[in-house]
Amino acid sequence: MGNLVNLTLDDGIAVVRVDNPPVNALSHAVRAGLRDGLRAALNNPQTSAVVIFCAGRSFFSGADIREFGQRPQAPFLPDLISEIEAAPVPVIAAMHGNALGGGLEVALGAHYRVAVKGTRFGLPEVSLGLLPGAGGTQRLPRLFPAADAARLITGGKPVETHAALSLGLIDRIGSSNDACAEGVAFARELIAAGKEPRRVGSLPCNQLEPAELEAITAETAKAARGATAPLACLEAVKAAMTLPFGEGLKKERALFQDLMASDESKALIHAFFAERQVGKLPEAESVEPRAIRRVGVVGGGTMGAGIAVSALLSGLDVTLAERDEAAAAKAAASVGQMLGNAVDRGKLAGTQREAILAASFRTTTCFEDFAPADLVIEAVFESMDVKKDVFTRLDQVCRPGAILASNTSYLDLNAIAAMTSRPQDVIGLHFFSPAHVMRLLEVVVGAETAPDAVASGFALAKRLKKVAVRAGVCDGFIGNRILSHYSKAVYGMVLAGASPYAVDRALTGFGLAMGPFAVGDLAGLDIGWANRKRLARYRDPHELYPEFADRLCELGRFGRKSGRGFYIYEDGAGRARPDPEVEEIIAAERAAKGITPRSIGEKDIISRYMAAMVNEAARVVGDGIALRPLDVDVTLLNGYGFPRWRGGPMHYADTIGLDQILQDISRFHEEDPIFWQPAPLLERLAAEGRTFASLNT
Ligand code: 3HC
Ligand code: NAI
Repeated sequence: MGNLVNLTLDDGIAVVRVDNPPVNALSHAVRAGLRDGLRAALNNPQTSAVVIFCAGRSFFSGADIREFGQRPQAPFLPDLISEIEAAPVPVIAAMHGNALGGGLEVALGAHYRVAVKGTRFGLPEVSLGLLPGAGGTQRLPRLFPAADAARLITGGKPVETHAALSLGLIDRIGSSNDACAEGVAFARELIAAGKEPRRVGSLPCNQLEPAELEAITAETAKAARGATAPLACLEAVKAAMTLPFGEGLKKERALFQDLMASDESKALIHAFFAERQVGKLPEAESVEPRAIRRVGVVGGGTMGAGIAVSALLSGLDVTLAERDEAAAAKAAASVGQMLGNAVDRGKLAGTQREAILAASFRTTTCFEDFAPADLVIEAVFESMDVKKDVFTRLDQVCRPGAILASNTSYLDLNAIAAMTSRPQDVIGLHFFSPAHVMRLLEVVVGAETAPDAVASGFALAKRLKKVAVRAGVCDGFIGNRILSHYSKAVYGMVLAGASPYAVDRALTGFGLAMGPFAVGDLAGLDIGWANRKRLARYRDPHELYPEFADRLCELGRFGRKSGRGFYIYEDGAGRARPDPEVEEIIAAERAAKGITPRSIGEKDIISRYMAAMVNEAARVVGDGIALRPLDVDVTLLNGYGFPRWRGGPMHYADTIGLDQILQDISRFHEEDPIFWQPAPLLERLAAEGRTFASLNT
């Protein structure tokens, strides 16, 4: 049975207890132990029921993802689950924490299921580019209403205990927190009532109406944005509805193996581990984060209000300072409104909103009110003078040891820190808009930032349920620096002949949530305009500078907020419509610059976009702004809408080959030798035949 699984028998009830911290992944050793434990229990004539239970914080959280890509070793999970299902006495899965993926599939193989409150049940395989490959797609629709089963499998989102009970996934919610005791008590009742094993595989499969199937197929294809696993999941569910159980299992297996071999699953598994590795920082390993309970926010505009809401929703106390009473009232109204939206979306009870606003949130115009704060986050205008003034004043009023953070998008954090007597306490906390929704937080580390301040930034991100990436100081840090560069490539393509709409179409076809021009319209074209003006004095005079974006801003076309940008937004629903006037402005600029427009196909648009992104990302890693290539991937995946199923730009570059990226760059270099210069790191790795992943240690 090995040392991860232990078996006890008490009064006819065998308990197979698995203990494989931290999440009870179903590794080879666990599978073998579970099989041996089950067999030993069933070989004992005194066993009347078997309870499967996991120690620690959770029931099984799925297959051991670290074993993927290695040669599979028996016992294989589907066989083990069939063996559980075939047991001649009732088998009960007793669950707590998470029952995910292969873990939920084990529970579906059991004959009865009990769980304590707060357990989450899900089949998240699709988010790893896979489908439930151990019978989940065949058993769930036999237990669950078919549409709910299809959505749970294609969407990968878990359900909570009460939903699981009402959907028929579990038989009982235990009244205590002790899952094992609940499982044993349930087993006793089953024995007393003379209950037999109840095998899900023997149940008829629930069916989807054709209209339901059509609707679910359409919504799955739309949400997939080019990924293949979600539709393969649906294919497997359809097999459950049309084939006998055994045949359905075979079909599921075949689909699973195809997905396991796909680039998509490799990319998504890379993203899974990258998001966990990104928080491992050599500098912060041996320090404790500072305690953060009271947060100050300076500026209650777009970002400040969102940051305040994010902190409030995580149970922190927030004091927000604005310039004057009117601005403070406006900020308070937006915070109230955003919390109201959280109530509408069911994330917060109405009474909780009232309680938060009454007890945990206040506005002020007086920086002295920051005296008790553990952390103050500045989110005022993107102006060095304004920020310097704010930090000078914060230095005067904040207590020693308080962390002073800036949400600046581009500005020099070291220059900001120099305004204080405590640069070791100054850090960048670069949130993304909307700050209470977007998962990314760049933690910007200045030349003198103390390691425990960095650790505190990461701890804060965890509390806010965000993913933090460590960034060094440069113009735009990791994400915006790369964004500025590939935006130039995008503008260059348009000047050369592509229409902005064709560029957006090609890139959404690649899997981006939105094309760069639609994103610009959403964020406000004035942001990029202000930034280009700020950087104008550093521009190479020989550089070909596209002016059409500036022209649009001069015409007051700032994007969605002004009804026009690259697109027109006039139909009330905010739908974007291409605008011939924009094409005319671009055509006029081409004519003035003597450029004969040429056609740039979809493939070429993607190559240019990706080559520019990867090249600048390689510089960002080479310059030490990002610790590793994986930090870039996590940044672009969580803050810039890069398709997760492509793993991030560095992973994508490894997939298509660094040589290929270099060849593309040298081809583009002939057209524009100033912009297209290969990054030294990219050249070095390609010459050594290495990948970006080789730097991810
Ligand atoms: N296999 C291997 N390692 C795993 C793992 C898994 N299934 N799940 C988590 N881990 C590791 C993490 O990498 C992390 O390792 P680290 O400490 O060295 O970085 C550690 O366990 C703790 O994980 P988290 O930091 O994510 O812990 P949380 O408590 O925040 O979250 C969780 C727990 C919700 C279980 C989350 O880890 C998770 O979502 N795991 C993946 C679940 C999943 O996708 N299961 C399906 C697997 S595929 C499958 O089952 C195929 C089957 O159908 C055949
Ligand atoms: P905004 O213009 O919406 O809000 C700025 C707020 O700061 C205003 O409400 C203003 O009244 C207030 N303010 C200005 N000076 C102040 C002072 N001395 N004391 C108190 N309040 C003051 O700007 P936005 O978009 O919220 O940006 C704020 C910062 O966040 C900028 O540094 C910006 O670069 C950064 N940022 C912006 C993002 C965005 O998408 N808007 C994304 C990430 C960062």
